Amino acid sequence: MPDFVTSLTADFTLTGDLSVDAPAFLRHHGLAGIADHVERVAAQAGQIADRVGVDRAAALTAAWLHDISLVLPAVEMLSAAESAGLELLPAERQAPGMLHGKLSAIFAQQFFAVTDPQVLAAMRCHTTLRAGATLLDRVLFAADKLSWDPEHAPYRHEMAAALDESLNRAVWCFLDWGWQRRGQMAVIHPWFRAAYVEMARQFAPVRRD
Ligand SMILES: [Fe+2]
Ligand SMILES: [Fe+2]
Repeated sequence: MPDFVTSLTADFTLTGDLSVDAPAFLRHHGLAGIADHVERVAAQAGQIADRVGVDRAAALTAAWLHDISLVLPAVEMLSAAESAGLELLPAERQAPGMLHGKLSAIFAQQFFAVTDPQVLAAMRCHTTLRAGATLLDRVLFAADKLSWDPEHAPYRHEMAAALDESLNRAVWCFLDWGWQRRGQMAVIHPWFRAAYVEMARQFAPVRRD
């Protein structure tokens, strides 16, 4: 187990119920706001999973743990990722906060004993999505974006309406919103760019900006 996982989990005892353990672990580290967010993401992910036919337990596991590495201070994320042997992209070196999905997958594996590769993959790409995203990736991505605090999610009404049409339409709604604001991003993660370009073929066939 990497040192950063050992030191942050040493004084926490798991019950074995993720719906209890994940928010309790976040609150234990003073992250009540993230715990509240994660509870919203889990509720949303369960609903979307049922609608689109994704395994509900897988969606809930991904949802409960997708932000769990936020217990790690942002300034320690880069060194933690290096110590865990993660392959780092230049964008992630520039903006290490973008590593929190990959680091959450490490906590999930090492402390919460999650083994399903699809669940771990969905956690890794929940911030950016990726080209060739699985249905589970898209369920978690949409549930996460719909559960951001309202002041950071001006797109949420449009995205919720898009979800009534289809999951892909909702995912596109967020990708397009983010892409229009890419000039304000510290960096454009290549997974986000690839996800946008791929979905633009379906939803914005004319525009290629
Ligand atoms: Fe996140
Ligand atoms: Fe999140």
